[in-house]
Amino acid sequence: MALFDRYGRAHDDLRISVTDRCNFRCFYCMPEEGMTWLPHDEVLNYEEITRVVRITTELGFTSYHLTGGEPLLRKDLHHLVEQMVAVQPGMDLALTTNGVFLPKMAKDLYAAGLRRVNISLDSMNAGKFLFMTRRDVFGQVMEGIEAAAAAGFSPIKINAVAVKGLSEEELPRFARWSRETGHVVRFIEYMPLDADRTWAHEKVLTAEEILEGLSVEGELELVSGHPSDPATRYRYKDGKGEVGVIASVTRPFCQDCNRIRLTADGMVRTCLFSTTEHDVKKLLRGGAPDDEIKTWLAEVVLTKTPGHLIGQEEFVQPERTMSAIGG
Ligand code: 5AD
Ligand code: SF4
Repeated sequence: MALFDRYGRAHDDLRISVTDRCNFRCFYCMPEEGMTWLPHDEVLNYEEITRVVRITTELGFTSYHLTGGEPLLRKDLHHLVEQMVAVQPGMDLALTTNGVFLPKMAKDLYAAGLRRVNISLDSMNAGKFLFMTRRDVFGQVMEGIEAAAAAGFSPIKINAVAVKGLSEEELPRFARWSRETGHVVRFIEYMPLDADRTWAHEKVLTAEEILEGLSVEGELELVSGHPSDPATRYRYKDGKGEVGVIASVTRPFCQDCNRIRLTADGMVRTCLFSTTEHDVKKLLRGGAPDDEIKTWLAEVVLTKTPGHLIGQEEFVQPERTMSAIGG
């Protein structure tokens, strides 16, 4: 069972943002200064999140993803992992993090049942890393990646946002690093979700350009994956190294989308680019029984639009930035 929308897409994937706070200020996401955070009592607690996980599990969801902001800023996140895994022991559960707190947290997360981590790392160069994230912590992220590997996470997926004029020279560096370490490096086309609203089509390093840059290190071949995986995967023909491209702008995968999102303050969004939201916190806190929430969720999924309109006249950038939606 799963929740179907009007276009026949089955939904079985929930992305949960556990906090809007972040210790980075990546230019493609947050402003340098002046962020205001959600008040604590507006943020769903672990019991409330776990209830949504149980309800969606009963509706056929099998895939869950914890994001932020920076999810490891949330106290004892491994307790949430434990509670979620108890609801559905076989669930496919992943965490997206900027990696800084992994040296402290990786072991506890693994012990709690987490098996997949995606670590954001935009550059292999400390200076450029600082420019893109506005934080001078490249070394700490590299330590975080090592801590994740040491804790048993495998493979480790690295996400790099690809921006024209910045990321070209990262491609061969990341390719070589993937070939040496076995980490999977995925390049994400820069999307219009930045607080500064400086995104422009010309600033997107496109999938085509990314693949061209990666091919310099060796011949690539397509790896077949799940249709709902937003990344198109490639490996080097000699068997060493895997890379991927998430081409949300130039090759949207909306037709295979299987996911909905829950924001930290309890809003359900049917798309990253939605301009409307659906308040599940009101139901959770207002005493609604499970059945009512299930029927409500089925209706919410029916409001999902066929796809985003990036690049078209009608496109409207959502009010929330990526940090407040959850990547
Ligand atoms: N475009 C593309 N990717 C983005 N992310 C955040 N903002 C953007 C954007 N404007 C990425 C982060 C992280 C994931 C959660 O989303 O780098 O890897
Ligand atoms: Fe923080 Fe991620 Fe946004 Fe960077 S992209 S500021 S790490 S939430």
